[in-house]
Amino acid sequence: MGKKSAAMPGTGRSAASEAKTLVVYYSRTSTTQRVAKDLAKRLGADIEAIADKKPRSKGFFGYMNCGRQATFRIAGAIKAPSRDPAAYEKVVVLTPVWSWKMTPPVRGWLRLMKGKLNATAFVAVSGNTEPEKIAADMAKESGAQPLAVAGFFQADFASEHKAEYEAKVAKIVDAMK
Ligand SMILES: Cc1cc2nc3c(=O)[nH]c(=O)nc-3n(C[C@H](O)[C@H](O)[C@H](O)COP(=O)(O)O)c2cc1C
Repeated sequence: MGKKSAAMPGTGRSAASEAKTLVVYYSRTSTTQRVAKDLAKRLGADIEAIADKKPRSKGFFGYMNCGRQATFRIAGAIKAPSRDPAAYEKVVVLTPVWSWKMTPPVRGWLRLMKGKLNATAFVAVSGNTEPEKIAADMAKESGAQPLAVAGFFQADFASEHKAEYEAKVAKIVDAMK
């Protein structure tokens, strides 16, 4: 039996892929994107960036609006995803942390995909916020209990902390094998 198509119906895109794992992320300022790309490379995974339907405003008011939406657990409007997570055995979902919560676009994606995730890992990327509460909220929104949870902090990206960074990446990769 062939693998189910990973392309979302109705997107008009063909995404013939043999990858067993999908890495899904949102990133406003590229930090989470870096972790997502490192994980996808090591896992041989397909990767999908969640995109805001409308670009977010920049500057002070844009920043405040990000925090406000996150605080009130608003599901952000997102562009139609191109990949169907149900076609993958494993899915890693990464979110930046805004106001001690997951980002609104990731909440929007998880609500859209509720009940469609098989084995999962959840990753929160932040200044210094522990990931457990965020992962618990991601589990609630998606209906999926993660096999692994990791939190990447600003300090992990410094060259002198490369070993800690790699250890966190390895933890997720091992859990998704
Ligand atoms: C609106 C906003 C709120 C934030 N709130 C938090 C927070 O509550 N705790 C924290 O540790 N970091 C917080 N941060 C920092 C981000 O989580 C951090 O910079 C993250 O790496 C951004 O990921 P990105 O570059 O992929 O967008 C916040 C950033 C923004 C823009």
